[in-house]
Amino acid sequence: MAKTITLIPGDGIGPEVTEATLEVLGAAGADLEYDRQLAGMAALEEVRTPLPTETIDSIRRTGVALKGPLTTQLGSGFRSINVALRQEFDLYANVRPAKTLLPGGRYEEIDLVLIRENTEGLYVGVEHYIGVGGDPRAAAESVMIVTRFGAERIVRYAFEFARSNGRKKVTLAHKANILKYTQGLFLDVGNEVAKEYDDIEFEDRIIDATAMALVLDPYQFDVLVMENMFGDILSDLIAGLVGGLGFTPAGNIGTETAMFEAVHGSAPDIAGQGVANPTGLLLSACMLLDHVEQTETASRIRVALEETVVGNVCRTRDMGGTASTREFTRALVRALR
Ligand code: NAI
Repeated sequence: MAKTITLIPGDGIGPEVTEATLEVLGAAGADLEYDRQLAGMAALEEVRTPLPTETIDSIRRTGVALKGPLTTQLGSGFRSINVALRQEFDLYANVRPAKTLLPGGRYEEIDLVLIRENTEGLYVGVEHYIGVGGDPRAAAESVMIVTRFGAERIVRYAFEFARSNGRKKVTLAHKANILKYTQGLFLDVGNEVAKEYDDIEFEDRIIDATAMALVLDPYQFDVLVMENMFGDILSDLIAGLVGGLGFTPAGNIGTETAMFEAVHGSAPDIAGQGVANPTGLLLSACMLLDHVEQTETASRIRVALEETVVGNVCRTRDMGGTASTREFTRALVRALR
C-alpha cells in the first residue's frame, strides 16, 4: 500500500520546487500519496494562521512530512514556524548531509553528515532583557539548556546513524573548556554513549577548532554531532563546502514523526520566475524515501541527479547553467533508469 505523507509546498519558490520534486518522484515510481497542507504565508493568507491545526493533525496522522521553505512573517505570533513544528513533534535530530554534487568547487568528493540537536541548547528561547536605570534593555540574558536525556538521545542517534549507514567515525564538537556545565554535560554523556559503540571511531573536539579543521581538511570527518546552535552554524559551513544551500537536504527526526525539507529558504528574490533549483527538496525527498524504506527509488533518483549535474547534461542558473526549473526537471526524468 502506498505510504501517505503530508506535503507542505510552502512559500516563495516552495511551490515551484515542490512540483518539480513531485514530477521526479512520480516518474521514479515512488509509492507515495500526498495529503497537501498549508503552512507559512500561504496558510496565513488562506486561513489566517501560519500553522493551521489541520496541518498539525495531518502530520500527526501520517508521521512523515515533506516541507517546502516557509517565510516567517514578523509578528505572526510564532518565533519561527519551523521551530514550532520541531517542538510540536519533538523532532530532536536534525540530519544534514553534505555531499558533493557539482564538480569544480572548492573541494571534490565531500561526504559528511552533521547531526544537530534540535530541541535544546540556546534555542529553547529562554531569554529576556534586564533594565538598568532608565534603560529597559541595558542587558539581555539567554539560557542554554542541556539535559542528560537530550544529550544522550542525540549522541546515540549519531552512533546509530553511523552504524546503519556504514560510516566509520563520529566527532562530537563542543565547548566544554569554557561552558563547563552545559557543554561539559554534553561531552560527558557523549563519552559514556561512545563506549557502547566500539565498532565506530569516536573523538571529541572543541567547536572552534572543528570549524577551522572542516575548512582546512574536511576529509578527516565523517559524522559530526553537536548541540543546537553549534549545529545550526556548522551545518551551513559544511553546505558551503559542497557549493551552498541549494544542494543540501535535511531531515528532522523524532521518535514518532519525521519531517524532511530543503535547507534553503523561500528565496523571494527569484520566486515565480521558474528558475529555482529543486535539488535541495528532491534530495530531502530521497531522505524521506529512505526513511519509509523505499531506498531503491531514492538511489535511482540520486543517480539521475548525479548523471544530470555531473555530466553537465542540464544545470540551473545557480549551478552555472541556463536551464529553467522545468527544463532541469525534464532532464532528471529522462535520466531515470
Ligand atoms: P534563501 O535561502 O531563501 O535565499 C538565499 C539566496 O539563495 C537567495 O539569493 C536565493 O535566490 C538563493 N536560493 C535559495 N534557494 C535556491 C534555490 N533552490 N535555487 C536557486 N537559488 C536559491 O534565504 P533568505 O533570503 O535569507 O530567506 C528568505 C525567507 O526564507 C525568509 O523569510 C526566511 O525566514 C525563510 N527561510 C525559511 C527556511 C525554511 O523554511 N526551512 C530556511 C531558511 C530561510
